[in-house]
Amino acid sequence: MKRFDLAMVRNRDLILGEGSLDESIEKICMNISENSSDWSFVHVSDLHVGSPRSYRFQPAWNENWQTARQQIQEIAPELVLIGGDLTRDGATHTGELNLVLEDLAQLGPECLIIPGNHEVGNKWSPDSSVAINSTYLRHYHNVFGASEWSHVRGEGINRVRFTGIDAFKLGSGLAEETELRDWLDQLEANSSCSNHVWMIHPALFADHFAEPDFDRTVDRVPWYFGLNRADRFYLWDVMKRTGATHVISGHIHCRRHVVVDGVHLHLAPATAFPQWGDRWPDGDDRLGFLEFSVSAGKITSRFVPLERTSDLQGYGPGGNPAVEGRDYSVAQEQPAFEPVRGA
Ligand SMILES: [Fe+2]
Ligand SMILES: [Fe+2]
Repeated sequence: MKRFDLAMVRNRDLILGEGSLDESIEKICMNISENSSDWSFVHVSDLHVGSPRSYRFQPAWNENWQTARQQIQEIAPELVLIGGDLTRDGATHTGELNLVLEDLAQLGPECLIIPGNHEVGNKWSPDSSVAINSTYLRHYHNVFGASEWSHVRGEGINRVRFTGIDAFKLGSGLAEETELRDWLDQLEANSSCSNHVWMIHPALFADHFAEPDFDRTVDRVPWYFGLNRADRFYLWDVMKRTGATHVISGHIHCRRHVVVDGVHLHLAPATAFPQWGDRWPDGDDRLGFLEFSVSAGKITSRFVPLERTSDLQGYGPGGNPAVEGRDYSVAQEQPAFEPVRGA
């Protein structure tokens, strides 16, 4: 039973119990007011903050994050969810992990963080040298701590549970996948919360919930953006069992809102750069973040677009190049690389 329902039961007992009706109504109002502090949280994802000491660097993405950061501070939410891909290449340049952690520590509001593939490696496949692996996972853990967590924030009917995981562990076959599944299997519902918000970096699916698995050699991008069916259905069972009301994912860099079986699936926008803007009629690849308001036990959301988009020019390849063959010559230039503004 939800907290709100419990409050209603207690209030009915008050009405039926001792005291005048006026006293009872006053107590009810006090009870509701104590339990209904409105509050807000922000979800921001795919920051891709990089460093000019790397084989590739896009200072525009750093500047976009600083714009988002300032807008978040102006909103002053109680909580900020960071949906992964904090860095450009934190998996292989662990210094980027420390830099972004220091940045977030100065943000102001509390941050709850999950990693993306740029911190812990790509969706597992046998033909990728930069796929998720235990070394990347250990580096992330050493800086950010556990990548699976479940916390409750807010009070009364506005108590919200937040659960975050590194969903790309699923299907990896790593020892860390077994540990994650053990953790998920022991996760229980929390009836004191009016909402349960899940955070994952990849989307549950590319286009629709029941879609078949994409062939990673033919349709690599949609394969790469979502979870395989077996992992999707396993995770969905855990989400449903634990009362999921919202699932927020990143990774695709295109905003979309889909409701499946009453659960709000929010595909989050990126702050760094857009992707897949022409994939769906209801997709929106504008850069920005999501603000969620919690009131009367309900969560509403709004898109906050970046106030400006950087035109700083960078260097280096996109995609997911192998570690071998990366060219650091620009990073080693003296004097050091100085970004310039584009046309
Ligand atoms: Fe990303
Ligand atoms: Fe990603």
